[in-house]
Amino acid sequence: MEKKIRIGALVSGRGTNLQAIVEACRRGFIDAEVVQAITNRAEAGAVDRCRKEGIPCLFIDHRNFPNREGFDAEAVAALRKAGTDLVVLAGFMRLLTPVLVRAFAGRIMNIHPSLLPAFPGLHPQKQALDHGVRFSGCTVHFVDEGVDSGPIILQAVVPVADDDSVESLQRRILEQEHIIYPQAIRLFVQERLAIEGRRVRILPPKDS
Ligand code: GRF
Repeated sequence: MEKKIRIGALVSGRGTNLQAIVEACRRGFIDAEVVQAITNRAEAGAVDRCRKEGIPCLFIDHRNFPNREGFDAEAVAALRKAGTDLVVLAGFMRLLTPVLVRAFAGRIMNIHPSLLPAFPGLHPQKQALDHGVRFSGCTVHFVDEGVDSGPIILQAVVPVADDDSVESLQRRILEQEHIIYPQAIRLFVQERLAIEGRRVRILPPKDS
């Protein structure tokens, strides 16, 4: 039997995407295992989820490092130690440096709650409402050295209602995040994602 893909997750917040990924692994939708979580916020909800799921969660306090590179080097060391094949950013609120991006080139994914390249960065749901778009959504993409700029793997569209608040839009987008993030990881695990420049080609299932 082939070795299971080992996932390392970087989290800063509630951890609902991490939860969706863990559950998808548990029910066999993704043939992989979350072996390590890393957080820069000891009080994050994701930390409790890890505890309940039996996933080791390492707290790395970014305040102990003079720069982002130092934090990232520590994260790379922990991810390597855990034998990580794929890194997923699941509500990780820090910009990555080349130290981390290059260590796992082509093997880091992120989810962003907008239809990229629209509304990268902070508060994308508010940006979408302020701009008046009729459709927003979410994007799973590979991580490159820019902000929310890497090759796009999957997207889901969410219509914006006239009476949407940031919270209501956020809630409906999040439901879609929990669907497409596990799908994108499943495709990666099945070796069905080919990065070709900016584009990601989805290859047919291997046994078809
Ligand atoms: C999600 O909206 C995700 O798209 C963004 O941060 C939020 C994390 O939520 N990057 P959670 O911690 O997974 O619940």
